[in-house]
Amino acid sequence: MVGVFIITSALVYAAYASAAACPRLPNPLPTVDGLPSIPTLPDPWTFFDGTPLRSPADWACRREEVLTLVQQYFYGYYPDHSKEERVHASRNGTTLNISVSVGNRTGTFNATLTFPNGTTRFRPVPVMINTGGVNETVFLGSGVALATFDVDSVAADSTTPGGAFWDLYSGEDIGVLTAWAWGYHRIMDAIIDKVPEIDPQRFGVTGCSRWGKAALAAGIFDERVALSIPMSSGLEGIGPWRFFFEEDGANEMIQNIFGYAPYWSTSRLGQFVPNVTNLPFDAHLHAALVAPRAIVWDEGEIDYWTNPEGEASVTFPAAHAVYEWLGAGDRVGVAIRPGDHCDISGYTNIQDFMNKIFFNEKITRNYSDISPYTPYTEAFPWINDAPGK
Ligand SMILES: *[C@@H]1O[C@H](CO)[C@@H](O)[C@H](O)[C@H]1NC(C)=O
Ligand SMILES: *[C@@H]1O[C@H](CO)[C@@H](O)[C@H](O)[C@H]1NC(C)=O
Ligand SMILES: *[C@@H]1O[C@H](CO)[C@@H](O)[C@H](O)[C@H]1NC(C)=O
Ligand SMILES: *[C@@H]1O[C@H](CO)[C@@H](O)[C@H](O)[C@H]1NC(C)=O
Ligand SMILES: *[C@@H]1O[C@H](CO)[C@@H](O)[C@H](O)[C@H]1NC(C)=O
Ligand SMILES: *[C@@H]1O[C@H](CO)[C@@H](O)[C@H](O)[C@H]1NC(C)=O
Ligand SMILES: *[C@@H]1O[C@H](CO)[C@@H](O)[C@H](O)[C@H]1NC(C)=O
Ligand SMILES: *[C@@H]1O[C@H](CO)[C@@H](O)[C@H](O)[C@H]1NC(C)=O
Repeated sequence: MVGVFIITSALVYAAYASAAACPRLPNPLPTVDGLPSIPTLPDPWTFFDGTPLRSPADWACRREEVLTLVQQYFYGYYPDHSKEERVHASRNGTTLNISVSVGNRTGTFNATLTFPNGTTRFRPVPVMINTGGVNETVFLGSGVALATFDVDSVAADSTTPGGAFWDLYSGEDIGVLTAWAWGYHRIMDAIIDKVPEIDPQRFGVTGCSRWGKAALAAGIFDERVALSIPMSSGLEGIGPWRFFFEEDGANEMIQNIFGYAPYWSTSRLGQFVPNVTNLPFDAHLHAALVAPRAIVWDEGEIDYWTNPEGEASVTFPAAHAVYEWLGAGDRVGVAIRPGDHCDISGYTNIQDFMNKIFFNEKITRNYSDISPYTPYTEAFPWINDAPGK
């Protein structure tokens, strides 16, 4: 049942990919001065060159374009894994040792597996790849394995590069969020190679706060990820770049995040610090890059710094509109709770959504419900203009 469910979405996606030749992005891409200031969320249904999309069949082209734009201006370019990297995994019980070589350089890190009761190689289970600190009962109790890794062993959370990723890519202008995303993906490689107890059709990724931003990047950059769960992710995650709701507390803005953690992104993000409206994307497109694969995000109402109202009232309706248009409206969800940053109860809130995606379970919670907030309609004047519907 689950297999059928996932294969169907792969076929739909393959149909988009057969679309006609895509509009070309300028080469080189402009710097901030050559980009228009866009006060609303950028229209998902208009190409960078101004050409309108005609139908969902054009999404493959638009997605490729947005994927380039987010790498150019925010993430840095994801390494060309298929051409360069050789992954060697070894397993000792529940420890995976992952060793990646590029040319004569090698980077090594490990992940720890935890299985739910009853796991056997003949009944493979889904896995949630995570950075630690989760409510394990939510996952193991639902029949989902955990693969946990130490992010710092992949890339140090520091301006000083360290860890397996930088052992390979020292000196490249790539953000640490992208490096962490790469870590999730190399664990997937190792699982496919060495862990027959895990079903590679049901990979999930999660993390909270800066690791929530990384989990979103992991979902964006690898289509093997079936479910992305960014928790309390804020700016550079699900928080909008352009819209803020500061009645009760300050929201993080680009000048804050680029001020203290410029290494999370490419240095090219810095040129947008006074001019964030020149970014050709916003967080709704980060979420839409995951489509039609599933994503649910957690947020706490009093976690003001992560802009929970913006994530719910701006990012969610806009991302949901794209998912609906792609025929996958029930694959994007939001789970709002009363608490603060990275409150452990967030995992219980996303549990039903996970069980729907991984086990096709019928659920009652409404993951489109953004109360206590309401849609901030001026952010997305294009929302009723979906082409080809
Ligand atoms: C950046 O913002 C400043 C201040 O609002 C403005 O004067 C300047 O023209 C903007 N630059 C671009 C490239 O839009
Ligand atoms: C495998 O792990 C066990 C402990 O879990 C350890 O005693 C053993 O030395 C390890 N084997 C190898 C080859 O690393
Ligand atoms: C991990 O694998 C690499 C390369 O195969 C090896 O050099 C290293 O000793 C291994 N580490 C552990 C802890 O097994
Ligand atoms: C590793 O490869 C690079 C070029 O690919 C070369 O410049 C360097 O000398 C090599 N280092 C070693 C230790 O072989
Ligand atoms: C797994 O089984 C053990 C032993 O029966 C039990 O103590 C534990 O609570 C079970 N764990 C889960 C997640 O069901
Ligand atoms: C896994 O890596 C950590 C460092 O990140 C190291 O401390 C630990 O010994 C490694 N464990 C194994 C079993 O290789
Ligand atoms: C962990 O998850 C279980 C299952 O959803 C829940 O019953 C428990 O209260 C959670 N623990 C915490 C500390 O939230
Ligand atoms: C879920 O909530 C949304 C937003 O409040 C609403 O439009 C939709 O009808 C609800 N769905 C169900 C099945 O109740």
